[in-house]
Amino acid sequence: VQVLSVASELFPYVKTGGLGDVVASLPVALADYGVQVRTLVPGYPAILAAIGEDCEVVRLPDVLGHEARLRLGSIGALCLAVLDIPALYDRPGNPYLRVDGQDWPDNGIRFAVLARAAACIGQGFLSGYHPDLIQTHDWQGGLTAAYLHYDGDEVWRANGMSRRPRVVQTIHNLAFHGSFPAEEREAFGLPVEALNMDGCEFHGKISFLKAGLFFADWITTVSPTYAQEIQGEQWGMGLDGLLRARSSCLSGILNGLDTTVWNPAQDPSVRFPYRLGDIASRMANKLALQSEFGLPQDRNAFLVGIVSRLTSQKGVDLLPEIMGRLLHRNTQFVVVGEGDRSIHREFFRLQRAYPGRFACYLGYSEELGHRFQASVDALLVPSRFEPCGLTQLCALRYGAVPIVSQVGGLADTIVDANEAAISQGVGTGFLFSPVSSEMLATTIEKARTLFRGNRKAWIALQRNGAATDVSWSGKAAQYAQLFASLAEIDLDAVQ
Ligand code: ADP
Ligand code: GLC
Repeated sequence: VQVLSVASELFPYVKTGGLGDVVASLPVALADYGVQVRTLVPGYPAILAAIGEDCEVVRLPDVLGHEARLRLGSIGALCLAVLDIPALYDRPGNPYLRVDGQDWPDNGIRFAVLARAAACIGQGFLSGYHPDLIQTHDWQGGLTAAYLHYDGDEVWRANGMSRRPRVVQTIHNLAFHGSFPAEEREAFGLPVEALNMDGCEFHGKISFLKAGLFFADWITTVSPTYAQEIQGEQWGMGLDGLLRARSSCLSGILNGLDTTVWNPAQDPSVRFPYRLGDIASRMANKLALQSEFGLPQDRNAFLVGIVSRLTSQKGVDLLPEIMGRLLHRNTQFVVVGEGDRSIHREFFRLQRAYPGRFACYLGYSEELGHRFQASVDALLVPSRFEPCGLTQLCALRYGAVPIVSQVGGLADTIVDANEAAISQGVGTGFLFSPVSSEMLATTIEKARTLFRGNRKAWIALQRNGAATDVSWSGKAAQYAQLFASLAEIDLDAVQ
């Protein structure tokens, strides 16, 4: 099965969250199942530098009025098509935001052009490359399915393709719709009828995500529970009606981790590497992290960490009001995060109020993120909604016990350490619901009580976590099955 994947982030070059990780790691896992993926990404400076000059260059003279060069090559195991249009993508830093934190005013056209290029490639524009399927990630890829629909069948037929490529729209986060003024319709190259409920229109605007959800042949999201949640009013973000109408072609497949990137034995960011499941060897890392953050080096302290975007999705705003209650009985808190300025201010305030007990790094540091997982006793993920979540998977693997809200992918990946689970030896973390500061505080206290009172049971949780399969293997198999059945290809016959 040949798949063109269309995305706006790619680890380690351009990443704002888990999307970048998934886009970079899923194709490698899919190769084991007979699925060949080529990934189309914008030519951001970091990606152009990585792919270098040694690649095939194909000219696309007119992508919505932009002249583009498509650089076809590979970085490591990833096969790429890099859409080089300096006027749109030659911007360092965050792929969506200016340095002042505002969206780039031309984000609509930037990602319409990406989707337009994807549709052209899907229609056989590159000679000899006829993908069976296009996987579009989030709103940035959303218009691809709409272009294929409005172009009709002539284009791909004229290019010698025998079938229209199928489109799978993958939702990593339904909260971001990619909505732009209806006046931009022509610039996006969409016909008048696109401004229709049965099209790309959403509340009078053009929504790239809605377009993808409406026109794709199949919709996936990144956990079974989130696939259910988004069909309800609370988490449907206004698109629940459409998702309910399409529920027969909507499924949830959990994310996996690249277990070579997340391997405590060979992680260059971890001070004292240790074998998977070798819990005792984490202590040296804990002491080192305490000292790195200016906290007292204390083996017995209960060290709780957060690694996260700091937005209301992540529930981190629930923390300040309970911090006074939590930061006693020898508890320490460390945060690595970046996001809303109001949350930054609150965390700064906590750091001043509780020196030696609360410390934060307010910025983005991949390395610190890795060191964290090898060091903290518990990793907190109090999200209000969480499509999948990767940090709790990293925590499992590195032996940090996840304390998570019972939503989305968090609910699907963590086994609550209630009494029954502990006695059966199957718990991996702590789940709480509803998402309130009260429940959060109670659950952290419950975890601390186990940490202090029953170290054997605590270590069993860590061991169970490290033994949990957080790799892509089973999940990539589900994608491969789905892709093959949509492309009507018999996978067994191919392999
Ligand atoms: P989301 O995509 O919603 O942000 P995920 O849990 O799926 O959440 O993925 C987040 C990814 O980004 C993880 O790999 C996590 O380690 C990383 N991450 C988030 N914030 C930071 C930060 N401030 N510094 C380093 N890594 C971070
Ligand atoms: C999104 C979600 C997160 C998910 C990630 C990768 O950013 O917020 O839950 O893990 O995408 O799919």
